[in-house]
Amino acid sequence: MLSMQSLLSLIGGLSLVGAATITKQPSQAEIDAARAKVQPFSPVSNVKGLAFDRFVDIWLENTDYATASKNPSLSKLASEGILLTNYWALTHPSQPNYCASAGGDNFGMDNDNFQQIPSNVSTIADLFDTKHIAWGEYQEDMPYAGYQGMRYPLSGPNQYVRKHNPLVMFDSVTESEVRPRQIKNFTSFHDDLAHHKLPQHMFITPNMTNDAHDSDITVAGNWVDRFLLPLLKDRYFSNNTLVLLTFDENDTYDEPNRLYSILVGGAIPDHLKGTKDNTFYTHYSIIASLSANWGLPSLGRWDCGANLLKLVADKTGYVNWDVDTSNVFLNQTYPGPLSAGTYSKYSPKWAIPTTNERCSAGHGIVDVVKKTYKDQKPTYNYTSPVPYDTASKTNLGIKYSRTKDGKKESRITR
Ligand SMILES: *[C@@H]1O[C@H](CO)[C@@H](O)[C@H](O)[C@H]1NC(C)=O
Ligand SMILES: *[C@@H]1O[C@H](CO)[C@@H](O)[C@H](O)[C@H]1NC(C)=O
Ligand SMILES: *[C@@H]1O[C@H](CO)[C@@H](O)[C@H](O)[C@H]1NC(C)=O
Ligand SMILES: *[C@@H]1O[C@H](CO)[C@@H](O)[C@H](O)[C@H]1NC(C)=O
Ligand SMILES: *[C@@H]1O[C@H](CO)[C@@H](O)[C@H](O)[C@H]1NC(C)=O
Ligand SMILES: *[C@@H]1O[C@H](CO)[C@@H](O)[C@H](O)[C@H]1NC(C)=O
Ligand SMILES: *[C@@H]1O[C@H](CO)[C@@H](O)[C@H](O)[C@H]1NC(C)=O
Repeated sequence: MLSMQSLLSLIGGLSLVGAATITKQPSQAEIDAARAKVQPFSPVSNVKGLAFDRFVDIWLENTDYATASKNPSLSKLASEGILLTNYWALTHPSQPNYCASAGGDNFGMDNDNFQQIPSNVSTIADLFDTKHIAWGEYQEDMPYAGYQGMRYPLSGPNQYVRKHNPLVMFDSVTESEVRPRQIKNFTSFHDDLAHHKLPQHMFITPNMTNDAHDSDITVAGNWVDRFLLPLLKDRYFSNNTLVLLTFDENDTYDEPNRLYSILVGGAIPDHLKGTKDNTFYTHYSIIASLSANWGLPSLGRWDCGANLLKLVADKTGYVNWDVDTSNVFLNQTYPGPLSAGTYSKYSPKWAIPTTNERCSAGHGIVDVVKKTYKDQKPTYNYTSPVPYDTASKTNLGIKYSRTKDGKKESRITR
């Protein structure tokens, strides 16, 4: 039997009557009850972007650049789009990379534990909401929209896992009445596709077999062929759409954490198909590029100084930094409150974002962040295209430069 309390806490964030963040794994009975009640939410919007009108972010798992580059499905895909040869993850293991993709930092996270991030930390959902750009996540095998448990099914081989779900970690998402219902499964993806109700931004996580985590790149390559290739031929899906296919992290921890990454979709101009882009990017570049594309503010975290996808920078005139990667590993992070002491040190302090930079996207900082962190000194220098921390000596000594208005600017992280 479910107590009223647990029922409320379970479905609260998912129905229209109230919102709640759960702190423990729901039972199968609770899952079944919620599944019967929860209505997935599929808002749509049509806000023109500078370089694309829809962005689809698809992450596979734990594969080294060299291994991925030999997979025939991926190389064929690259020949139809742009191969990003200098795209970097931020740390290990998986979860902090997913966290970073939504929140602009990973707060020292060095583990895949059940993490909840306080509601005063903003995410890309706050950025999209400033212009009512519809967003969603599609998580394969999630039992219902907004499920907050660790995994599903509760036993047997892993299919859906919380650690690969970027937005579910943030209380600013789970405390909302509607946001959790925009975190849906693949059943909803196919419904939304069929009814032309796909959002303008979506994050797609295949299950633990399809994403190569519990299998290998051949299985993931086959999944890409089955899932993505038909979509690219679908005019509704592909119309001015930019798809990023990347990985969460490299597989070899003591090697540089660079990822084989491909841009495809209807937003790629014909003359760029089959080309390479050697610009330095990180997962933070995607947040910054979304902001630049749609005229959105920044989170004031590491998205602020991140390089923009060249496709977008070419439209805004932003000059990206050239990063000398000979010293770059991006295989562990600095201390923070989400550290378990595995690869980084614990520190109780939540990083303070910047509230007064223009940022690479050029639209300043989102109001909710300015209001929350007004007059506080930022923890890091977020204008850098590479995250670094002077206090713990993380990622120091990395040189970067660019030529802007005929003048060479050179910097070093120190
Ligand atoms: C990722 O891992 C591979 C090991 O296969 C290593 O050679 C490479 O340097 C790492 N990073 C990149 C840049 O691929
Ligand atoms: C944000 O929330 C955390 C955790 O509750 C708290 O420690 C921190 O002081 C808050 N920061 C601000 C600026 O309110
Ligand atoms: C996907 O989510 C919907 C809506 O929340 C739910 O009804 C359905 O059973 C889920 N599908 C799977 C395969 O779990
Ligand atoms: C993963 O998804 C595929 C279909 O896309 C399904 O056949 C498979 O059973 C799912 N789960 C596992 C553990 O493979
Ligand atoms: C693509 O989208 C534009 C509006 O953004 C629309 O005018 C056009 O008809 C669409 N094309 C297709 C093939 O759906
Ligand atoms: C990161 O790479 C460096 C250099 O290879 C290595 O010393 C360090 O142990 C790596 N960190 C992790 C978490 O593997
Ligand atoms: C950040 O670093 C750059 C380059 O070293 C420097 O010019 C800038 O003043 C720094 N910003 C802050 C807020 O410290």
